[in-house]
Amino acid sequence: MSNDKREEGGKHIDLAHTENPSRRIKPPQRSFSILHVSGEPEAVLIRPVKDPKVLHGWKLNLASMQMSVTAHTSGLTRIRLWNNDMSSAWPESWAVSCEPQAAEWPPQGVVETSLYVEAGPSPAVQVGPITLGSWQQHPEALRFSLDCGQQMPRIYGLGEKMGRLERSGRVWDMWNTDEPEHTPTRDPLYVSIPFAMISVGEQWFGLFVDNPARQYWDAGAGSPNSLTIDVEDEYLDIYLMQGGSPREVLGQYNSLTGSTPLPPMWALGYHQSRYSYAPQSEVRRIAREFRTKELPADVIQFDIDYMNGYRIFTWDKTGFPDPSGLIAELKQSGFKVISIVDPGIKVDPKYSIYAQGVEKDYFCKLPDGTRYQGAVWPGKAVYPDFSRQEVRSWWGEQHRELFKHGVAGIWNDMNEPADFTGDAEYRPDYTVPNELQVATDTGAPVSFARFHNLYAAGMNSATREGFAKHAPDKRGFVITRSGYAGLQRTAGVWTGDNCSWWEHLEAAVPMLLGLSISGVSMVGSDTGGFQEDASPQLYARWFSFSAFTPYFRSHTANDTRAHEPWSFGTNVLNISRHYLQLRYALLPYLYTAFYRAETEAEPVMKPMFFEWPEDQRLQELNNEYLFGGQFLVAPVTSADTMWRHVYLPAGLWYDFWDDHLYRGESDQLIHAPIGKLPLCVRGGSVIPHESPRLHTDAERKGDLLLDVYPDAEGQAQGELYCDAEEGWGYRSGEYSLIAFTYHKGNFQITFENSGYSPAWRHARVRVHRGSRAGQQQSAGAELSGEQTADPLRLSKAALPEPFALRGAEHSDARVPLQSGRWEV
Ligand code: GLC
Repeated sequence: MSNDKREEGGKHIDLAHTENPSRRIKPPQRSFSILHVSGEPEAVLIRPVKDPKVLHGWKLNLASMQMSVTAHTSGLTRIRLWNNDMSSAWPESWAVSCEPQAAEWPPQGVVETSLYVEAGPSPAVQVGPITLGSWQQHPEALRFSLDCGQQMPRIYGLGEKMGRLERSGRVWDMWNTDEPEHTPTRDPLYVSIPFAMISVGEQWFGLFVDNPARQYWDAGAGSPNSLTIDVEDEYLDIYLMQGGSPREVLGQYNSLTGSTPLPPMWALGYHQSRYSYAPQSEVRRIAREFRTKELPADVIQFDIDYMNGYRIFTWDKTGFPDPSGLIAELKQSGFKVISIVDPGIKVDPKYSIYAQGVEKDYFCKLPDGTRYQGAVWPGKAVYPDFSRQEVRSWWGEQHRELFKHGVAGIWNDMNEPADFTGDAEYRPDYTVPNELQVATDTGAPVSFARFHNLYAAGMNSATREGFAKHAPDKRGFVITRSGYAGLQRTAGVWTGDNCSWWEHLEAAVPMLLGLSISGVSMVGSDTGGFQEDASPQLYARWFSFSAFTPYFRSHTANDTRAHEPWSFGTNVLNISRHYLQLRYALLPYLYTAFYRAETEAEPVMKPMFFEWPEDQRLQELNNEYLFGGQFLVAPVTSADTMWRHVYLPAGLWYDFWDDHLYRGESDQLIHAPIGKLPLCVRGGSVIPHESPRLHTDAERKGDLLLDVYPDAEGQAQGELYCDAEEGWGYRSGEYSLIAFTYHKGNFQITFENSGYSPAWRHARVRVHRGSRAGQQQSAGAELSGEQTADPLRLSKAALPEPFALRGAEHSDARVPLQSGRWEV
């Protein structure tokens, strides 16, 4: 059986992706290479942003081969090479999938053409301590290695993965998979982002292997000082980035793949979900409970049971007879609706979407030209061919059925795509077969093996078209389960079907951080765990953690106990309300962080090493992170825990709850009974916040609140971004960006942009001095009496005071919110 293609029932079945990577080594047929970029490209400017058709670069003629080498002024080296034999297939949509910030999907081609002609021996590219070389063509994959000589690299990123933040020592598989059992060694999961941030000594690099075919990244498992990558294809687009810091490297990656657009403010509120709230009386009940219990929330999500027999873009006429009325009523009490959309279309000739798709020939096919039928929730299903613009536009158009009733956001699920007909031998990853073909707009059909990881990108982009067409004045909000590099341009990600296990709460921290430093800022996990029943304690801990993650949603499966904030008794209800209020108080701060995510590709949730790359202690820290630039969050992720060890990096730190002052570069044991999320504020910060509301459309009351936490030099700074919180005006200057600086009693407000009148006229400025009293004592009597971390055993969960001001000499002043300088 040549090339591992097996004849079965007359069909070719590609088994490559079921193989163990270690068995895939075959003698090279050809070698690719001759790359030498030292020096020359430095002067070259590549502006890989607005117009992907204009790419400037060097073309180097080296002996018998030609290739293009482009370089970024700030150290990005882009190397594109491909096999001459395959050039006739160019351009295929996958090959340009990650071109910079294209408005449309797929971006319409990089048209620079470089031909690869058989190379001679295989020299390498040397960039600092990194050698990129040894290109080899195997029958099933193109292999290359990145070698760090005597040094052992640290490898971060790679998107959504289980395990530690630092990825060394494992082989990682890039293949979007519906993987409901994220046990620690499970890989791959739903999202594939073949981008890594690599530190070698004190230098930082980025490696982006832009090819949506299956890839295996051996991150030092075989040889600790190197990274070996197999791409199951014959094309490669490799970007090697060099930067002075992780931030610079991520900035370069984002300049290629785009940044997270500013969400509407409501999307940063709390989302309540379950599989499923149905019929509509149940939705009403949930909304009512939130309001009678005074729980801030903005969104109720509709899982698949709102549909008629899981037919996408339909409503169950019995359970949801009046979607417009229901959604309008929810709006009255401050709720928006996000509804789920799956790609699998039920095979049913009487169902108009199926019938239209068949008539127009929009579904994916087998090589013999017949439509492929898999199975998902509705039973037998067909899959739209999202490689085609026409199909994407058609899909976008179908959202009319949801938007006309007032649906505000879309939750794209099952888009790996999931296919329940997989069998363990042949398709262990429960997706459609690789021999399927997508037609593409170029007229050259592409095998699903090459398109698979891009399927969700096509779907998300189609959803965006739906928003652009049917809700053009809205920013839209899309959350997806699956995706490929660059997915942040169209959607945020939730990490799929986790379980109500402490292990999954613990795993959520590095998982969300891995996604964040792979360019995706809008990330969150199913609070409380999706599968199985959460315990009150787990739910309370998960809830307080999720309040400090970008996308904050509780969700649970159809066969679990109730997972709403009030479902676990009064103590958990009070804890949940406390963290909802804190989340809503901090929305101005969080919104500002998202503004920086769009404009500067600054992740909202950051691993500690990202900010202090020089601190060795932070390089493998999996359970602490920064939320925005100024909060250090150290969630409790184990049962029955009353104390949490926290390492604090350089600087001065304030305990958020009792104002206790810590010197940095120190280990601390922080009291963390149930109800208290260990949280520190970085000295040198001004934190903008407001009085919490029940939802983001509710009227604002009171002043803007500015809490100042000076550093050791008595200085602090912060900023506030504000705009209409929805719509596109901000892109044409209708926003205000306000800088705050504090220096020993002087407080300065500077409007750096004043295109939008802030909702507040005054700001209350409170300067913290911190307290050096012992932590347990200063934590207050209300917390010190607790002997248990189990909310069930407490008569009353004690809740710590946010923005506590315990220092003797703190100040509190009210100033107008306008440019100027005040004594505070
Ligand atoms: C998938 C999703 C889950 C959803 C379920 C039913 O398992 O990951 O979030 O509730 O499908 O639609």
